[in-house]
Amino acid sequence: MDHLLRTPKLNAEDRRAAWYPYYAGYSEGFARWALQSMEAKPSSRVYDPWNGAGTTTFAAAAMGAMATGLDLNPSMVIISKARSAQRLGALELLERAESLQSFPRGRPPSLTADDPLEGFFNGNTVQAIRRVERALIDGHVPCDFGGDMSDLSEVHALIYTLLFRVCREAAKQKPSNPTWRQKPKVQSDLSADALLDATRRHASLMKSYIVNRADVESVATRRGDARVDYLATDPFDVLLTSPPYLTRIDYAIKMGLELAVLGLRPDALRHQMLGTPLTSHRQDEEAVPVETAEILRQIREHKSKASATYYDRFFRSYFVDYDKSLSVISSNAALGAIAGFVVQNSYYKQHAIDLAGITSKMMSRHGWEEVRRENFAVFHSLANRNVASRSYLKAKKYEESFIIFRRSM
Ligand SMILES: C[S@@+](CC[C@H](N)C(=O)[O-])C[C@H]1O[C@@H](n2cnc3c(N)ncnc32)[C@H](O)[C@@H]1O
Repeated sequence: MDHLLRTPKLNAEDRRAAWYPYYAGYSEGFARWALQSMEAKPSSRVYDPWNGAGTTTFAAAAMGAMATGLDLNPSMVIISKARSAQRLGALELLERAESLQSFPRGRPPSLTADDPLEGFFNGNTVQAIRRVERALIDGHVPCDFGGDMSDLSEVHALIYTLLFRVCREAAKQKPSNPTWRQKPKVQSDLSADALLDATRRHASLMKSYIVNRADVESVATRRGDARVDYLATDPFDVLLTSPPYLTRIDYAIKMGLELAVLGLRPDALRHQMLGTPLTSHRQDEEAVPVETAEILRQIREHKSKASATYYDRFFRSYFVDYDKSLSVISSNAALGAIAGFVVQNSYYKQHAIDLAGITSKMMSRHGWEEVRRENFAVFHSLANRNVASRSYLKAKKYEESFIIFRRSM
C-alpha cells in the first residue's frame, strides 16, 4: 500500500517500468495512491473519461474495482485494453511473438498506394512492418478500428500494442518540441530481421510486465468523446482523470505513428481533441463559461500578434469543450461520488491560466465541492521549451495540481 503523497509526474523509474512510453500519462504509483486516498473500494465503479494509456483503469481493476475508460484516440483504447488483458491469454500470445523467427510463407503484402506508415518509413520498411503485422495476426480475424471499439479483442489489443512499440523504436523519433506539427523523418532501410528481433524483444518486455503485474478482471475501454458520450453502465462513484492540458500539444500528431500502424491518419481526430491547436469558428457563437470570461478578455486584449484572433479562439474552444465535458461527466456521477483531477497551470504571455482554479469553479457550478488540493512543482514544463515565450518567463511558476471533489448535489 502506498501511503505517501505521490507526485503524478513520471520519474525515470516509472518510465522504464511503464506499460507504454506515453508522455502524457501519470504513474501507476500515483494512480494507486490517488484511488486509495479517494477511498476507492472493490465495490466501486471507477471512471476515467480521458483515459490515455489506461493508468487509472488498470490501477482500479488491480484493486478489484470495476473500471471504465474512454478516449477519443483509437490507439490509446488499444494500449489501455492490452494493459489489462487476462494473464493466460496474453502470455500465450506474447510467447508466440517471442519465438517468431521468420515470416509465414506467401507473398509479402503488396504496398498500398497510401499507407500512412510511409510518412515515417521507406517502402521496404513499411512492407517489412506489414509482414510482421501479418505474422502476428496469423490465425486471427483482421480487426476493425471503427465505431466505439468496445468489442475489440484483447488479442488484437496486444498485437497492436506490440507493433506500436516496435515501430516507436524503429522510428527513433527525437523528442523535439511537440507543440508544433513535426515533419516526420523518413528513415533508411530497416531489415526484416531487425524488425523481427525488435518484435521478440518487445514481446519479452511486455511479458515481464504482465508477469509482474496483478491479474485483473477485464476493464471496459471504449473509444468516445468526453464532451458528448454518456456512460452505458451505472453511474460512477470514483473518478480519477487528467484532461489534456492547455499547452497546445497536438495529441493526435504526437500519436501519429501509432495511428499510422492502424492505417489511420490523424487529420479528423485532430479537430475533435480537447485542447487541439487547430481552431475553427465552431465556438464563436457559443457563450463562454462564466469562470473564464476574465482570462479570455485578457488574452483577447493582449497587444501581441494573433491574441485577438488565433489565441482567443484556441482558449475559448478549450474552455467551452472542457465545460461541456465536465457537464457530461457530472451527469454520469452517483450522488456522493468522489472525483480526482490532475491539471496543470500555464501562461499566456504574462497572464497565468489557473486551470486548477477554473476547474474548481466549473465543478462547483456542476454540483461538486472541492475537498482537497495538493500542488506539485513542475520543473520541466513543455511551455518552457518555447523560446519565443521565454521573454515573459521571469516570475512564472509551473504547478500540477491534484484536486479532489465530492458530488454534493
Ligand atoms: C493527459 S492524457 C491522459 C493520460 C492518462 N491519465 C494516462 O495516465 O495515460 C489526456 C487524454 O485525453 C484524450 N482526449 C482528448 N480529447 C478527448 C475527448 N474529446 N474525449 C475523450 N478523450 C479525449 C487524449 O487522447 C489523451 O489520451
